[in-house]
Amino acid sequence: MKYGEFDSASLMYITNRPEILFERGEGSWLFDSQGKAYLDFVQGWAVNCLGHSPAVIRDAVVKQVNTLINPSPAFYNGPMIELAGLLTAHCSLDRVFFANSGAEANEGAIKLARKWGRLHRDGAYEIITFDHAFHGRTLATMSASGKAGWDTLFAPQVPGFPKAALNDIDSVAALIGPNTVAVMLEPVQGEGGVIPATPEFLQALRKLTRENNILLIVDEVQSGMGRTGRLFAHQHAGIEPDIMTLGKGIGGGVPLSALLATEAVSCFEPGDQGGTYNGNPLMSAAGVAVMRTLIAPGFMDEVLARGEYLAARLRELVARHGLAGERGFGLLRALVLDSDRAPAIVKAALEGSPTGLLLNAPRPNLLRFMPSLTVSEAEIDQMTAMLDALLKA
Ligand SMILES: Cc1ncc(COP(=O)(O)O)c(C=O)c1O
Repeated sequence: MKYGEFDSASLMYITNRPEILFERGEGSWLFDSQGKAYLDFVQGWAVNCLGHSPAVIRDAVVKQVNTLINPSPAFYNGPMIELAGLLTAHCSLDRVFFANSGAEANEGAIKLARKWGRLHRDGAYEIITFDHAFHGRTLATMSASGKAGWDTLFAPQVPGFPKAALNDIDSVAALIGPNTVAVMLEPVQGEGGVIPATPEFLQALRKLTRENNILLIVDEVQSGMGRTGRLFAHQHAGIEPDIMTLGKGIGGGVPLSALLATEAVSCFEPGDQGGTYNGNPLMSAAGVAVMRTLIAPGFMDEVLARGEYLAARLRELVARHGLAGERGFGLLRALVLDSDRAPAIVKAALEGSPTGLLLNAPRPNLLRFMPSLTVSEAEIDQMTAMLDALLKA
């Protein structure tokens, strides 16, 4: 791929990118260098929660860029304090540390739990995680993940992440021992194929972790920030975790993530945790714009309504094409196909003419939908009409 006098061969090869150069985005739409439009139901992997280049984020970032970009994390700034206050006012956690990516927030959660274990549980350090979980691509978060093949990729792993089966409380109980400090899970396994932890399982997990004096960590990097129709997905189950991580949607497209903990668990001391960009006002200003949009009266009701609308349209496709089913929460949904044709559908959707469609296939028989939280019913109709034709083909 050429860009002026430059060539994409200068980039490190880490994935097979199609020969498309995206130049512009607006709401649910992306436009490439040839002027072709694409309806985007991936949104940077659930990152652009308010769509491409929404005015609220644009205005907040431009205003902040003109004022102060980065005084250094050693000093307070307004947006960092405002965003921490907005987040803690809308969940059961008390303290926030900001970082740049989901993996980094989870790495912080693992460190915080291990520190708490050293202080309060005789040096316990093991964190029970789950088969098919995805927590990021640093060494510790890869070790915490339950992705097939990741136990040997970049071996040796970081030790201390025994795996249980999602929605099987006995499998968790069987792993708890003197070295256990926490259980960590995604309320909805996203990369694993949009597999929700049931509310009953989350409630049983909360009870089990309390009885054993160990921590409950929810990784809401994908499921948080309104994605499932509640601000945070664990709120569907009415539980209160000890630690929560956020990423993706929190910055609405810019690199921002957060580690939140209760007062009792916030045991970092100076020197334990940090990072050059943590709490920088530029990204925090974007986070404030996102959070203020999500908590505006009626916004989350609209997300729930559009989630139900999308689910209903997907169920029509299930019936019409004899597919295996549909599942998910809010605007994080999956269509289970009748065969392993999801990658072929994703490719054909992208190549569609005159308009392309961006979909994602986390598993060969599964399509995942993560549109903007502001997606319209007309855009959902347009997507399902395009997908209907692709399923027929
Ligand atoms: C649940 C979950 N945790 C962590 C991550 C890692 O986030 P990042 O890619 O920003 O490091 C992801 C990314 O897909 C995720 O879905």
